Amino acid sequence: MTILKYGAPSLREISQPVEKFDEDLEKLAADMFETMYAAPGIGLAAPQVGVNIRLIVIDIRDGDESAGRKLILCNPRITASEGTQEGDEGCLSVPDFMEHVKRPMKVAIEAQNIKGEPFELTGEGMLARAICHEIDHLDGVMFVDRVSPLKRALMRGKIRKLTKAGKW
Ligand code: NI
Repeated sequence: MTILKYGAPSLREISQPVEKFDEDLEKLAADMFETMYAAPGIGLAAPQVGVNIRLIVIDIRDGDESAGRKLILCNPRITASEGTQEGDEGCLSVPDFMEHVKRPMKVAIEAQNIKGEPFELTGEGMLARAICHEIDHLDGVMFVDRVSPLKRALMRGKIRKLTKAGKW
């Protein structure tokens, strides 16, 4: 699948809840994992491949498909968060940019699996960061929106230049 880049309208939409837990959804999740591993990345949200539904795939073992834990989150919702972490963050839709983003150290979520069965999950550290980042995508929010205004202006300027040069 093609990963949409910053500037694509799909990335700014509020995505719709997943309602049909069928074979098409399973296929989409599988394709998203494949796309994410190939990138390589640790998380991908459906709007990033142009499908505006509340579906996320995460595997925080960067690119190593054999070692990781595949997480599929349908209709995820953060129910609690704790602490803060500081660190650099990137996004497959904003390639070649890493910026400082503050996130909770720990989050608890409710979600549904690929069959539509509800479950709860707690994530810490990198997993908490990935969950927050990907849930943002479902609401049309990108990490670019969460960096300092100065950094954001610099990033936008660079992206504009890359776009003009046909390199974006
Ligand atoms: Ni992203």
